[in-house]
Amino acid sequence: MLVTAKDMLNKALDENYAVGQFNINNLEWTKAVLETAQELNSPVILGVSEGAAKYMTGFKTVADMVKAMIDSMEITVPVALHLDHGSYEGAQKAIEAGFSSVMFDGSHYKIEENIEKTKEIVNIAHSKGISVEAEVGAIGGEEDGVVGNGEIADPAECKKIADLGIDFLAAGIGNIHGVYPENWKGLDFDALATIQKEVGKLPLVLHGGTGIPNDMIKEAISLGVSKINVNTECQLEFAKETRKYIEAGKDKEGKGFDPRKLLAPGTEGIKKVVKEKMELFGSVNKA
Ligand code: 13P
Repeated sequence: MLVTAKDMLNKALDENYAVGQFNINNLEWTKAVLETAQELNSPVILGVSEGAAKYMTGFKTVADMVKAMIDSMEITVPVALHLDHGSYEGAQKAIEAGFSSVMFDGSHYKIEENIEKTKEIVNIAHSKGISVEAEVGAIGGEEDGVVGNGEIADPAECKKIADLGIDFLAAGIGNIHGVYPENWKGLDFDALATIQKEVGKLPLVLHGGTGIPNDMIKEAISLGVSKINVNTECQLEFAKETRKYIEAGKDKEGKGFDPRKLLAPGTEGIKKVVKEKMELFGSVNKA
């Protein structure tokens, strides 16, 4: 069932667990995530970056594929189709194409401009019943081989953005996208607690879910994180399993070169990661 992310995240906040956002790249990815959510009776958020949407030929292809798969796979658990780190234009295009949820990431603008643009996206999205995630304090990550430290969001700015009527908020607390560097300082729980107090009852989003130790994930959930984004870990597992298959020469045995066989171990790898995360986040049987 395609739904917005609003109710599922408010429920998660009330009941002290988090819903996973798993980024999708193609049909196999989508199938793996949907199958696992249904098997575990868990709500789920499919994350799509603008780059991934472009790769799949456009927002409409993605929205239509996801809707058709929910139907043909008889998926009954709540599924949100969410634009990840959307631009001002991208968020509007995703809404038009049939996404049920969008992130507008205005964290690279000055706070006044972030507020203005977020407000506009909230108006457009809410007039169509679509949920909105906003961001304060840019979430770093690898760029041109340099891994930046994640910013810590300013709690007063978080409050200003939260008051615009957004449905959930991504606030940087030292988290970054991709694999964490050896010398990573960890999540800043004092900052998280302060932000949570400032914004009141609003689901918070933790980006950069790959490689955060389990105890930190649990602590973040106890402090109001209700949505956790995971992307790189699924990609690494997909690549690892595919490599194993090729290195074992399986593509050269019989019809092992058939993409339905070639991509199967990687797809199973994604399912394994998604299952582990849903168990860790506590969303199993919360559909
Ligand atoms: P990772 O790739 O580090 O798991 O981060 C995913 C994410 O935050 C997507 O917005």
